[in-house]
Amino acid sequence: MAHILVVEDREQDRYMLQVLLEGHGYAVTAAANGIEALQIATRNPPDLIVADLLMPGMDGFALCRQWRQDARLKDIPFVVYTATYTDVRDQEFALSLGADRCMIKPQEPDVFIQGLLKVLEEHRAGRLRAHPPAVQDMAYLQQHNEALNRKLGQKLAQVEVGKQALEEEAGARMRAEQQVKVFSQQLKNLAAHIESVREDERGSVGREIHDELGQHLTGLKITAFLLAREFSKPNITISRQDTVERIERMLKSIDAAIQTVRKISTLLRPTVLDDLGLLAAIEWHAQDFQARTGIRTRVRLPSQGVQLSPEATRALFRIIQESLTNVAQHAKASRVDIKLQQRKDLLWLSVSDNGQGIPEYKIEHPRSLGLLGMKERAILLGGDLSVSGKPAKGTTVTVKVPLQRAANVP
Ligand SMILES: Nc1ncnc2c1ncn2[C@@H]1O[C@H](COP(=O)(O)OP(=O)(O)OP(=O)(O)O)[C@@H](O)[C@H]1O
Ligand SMILES: [Mg+2]
Repeated sequence: MAHILVVEDREQDRYMLQVLLEGHGYAVTAAANGIEALQIATRNPPDLIVADLLMPGMDGFALCRQWRQDARLKDIPFVVYTATYTDVRDQEFALSLGADRCMIKPQEPDVFIQGLLKVLEEHRAGRLRAHPPAVQDMAYLQQHNEALNRKLGQKLAQVEVGKQALEEEAGARMRAEQQVKVFSQQLKNLAAHIESVREDERGSVGREIHDELGQHLTGLKITAFLLAREFSKPNITISRQDTVERIERMLKSIDAAIQTVRKISTLLRPTVLDDLGLLAAIEWHAQDFQARTGIRTRVRLPSQGVQLSPEATRALFRIIQESLTNVAQHAKASRVDIKLQQRKDLLWLSVSDNGQGIPEYKIEHPRSLGLLGMKERAILLGGDLSVSGKPAKGTTVTVKVPLQRAANVP
């Protein structure tokens, strides 16, 4: 049974080689570097040595040189097995130091074993080439130095590549951080916008209460007060006719107050939406919009209705409201089409006008808070919202929401 000495600094590689060789019937001893290998080999000379080149302590070049200078070892075949010194000049250097064969890692196990077998056979048959004369110290040092420099050069190049990768990663991270900053600014803007919309809503509810309801109630109070004063006089002078008229005026005021209360509650929450559902609310809002703005408003809705959670219903309705407000404010349009469709498992909503078209830069602009708010609502439903515009051809807002999510969102 041939005995092979394996010299390899990486424990895992050493172990793999040992297992492979033992599996093929060789007796194996192993060393972690050149110094250890020389100690083991002089005690128990192997039939062949397989050595790595790049190793701490004494590397493969130095080991090979000493091997060939040691009377007890110099006739034992020396095979270099390296993954790091792959330059032809490195291999030539190893051969000039007396290596019999150089193999580049990793080799297929079969090829590797065949390679060793061949060296052993040639050795037995005396066919291995004669070992070159010992390289002189100066020449050795110079060539060894050059091999190390080449290695260093390669390593530096690898470090450079690594550095570039790190720089790219740092760049990507910086861009991501920048984006997070932009997003958080947008969120802040949005929060401020929502607050100001709430303020506006509170303001307009306040005005309704003060201007309308207040007036009706004051009128009612004055009429009731005067009537009470008339009736508390010892001699009632007010005619029956007059009394009836005043009471009728009071009834009118009460009716108007009731109307105002209804209006306020509509302002506070869209009751049509709650009572009649999304489709009826869209119809109602479209009619109201057309009546207020004179912009012809068409609605196309799914005939069999849609099953949506209250949250999804509210979000879609708000998106339509915002889109129509934008049409009235910015589009200079004469018509607008609202379409709601169920396509497979998606709900599609589009609001398109025939106006001047939204300018491209406004679509993603961080100050386009209305649009941003609409997008947020769509995203919260697991969907998305896109806006597109063509000059003089109009603007379209498209929302796609997964039906499953829209039905389940609380
Ligand atoms: N249908 C449209 N046609 C043309 N331009 C539009 C349309 N919708 C939006 N825009 C343009 O996009 C901008 C951004 O719209 P967005 O709704 O975000 O803000 P806004 O309407 O100006 O203000 P807010 O909605 O906060 O009251 C508008 O100022 C307008 O210039
Ligand atoms: Mg707007």
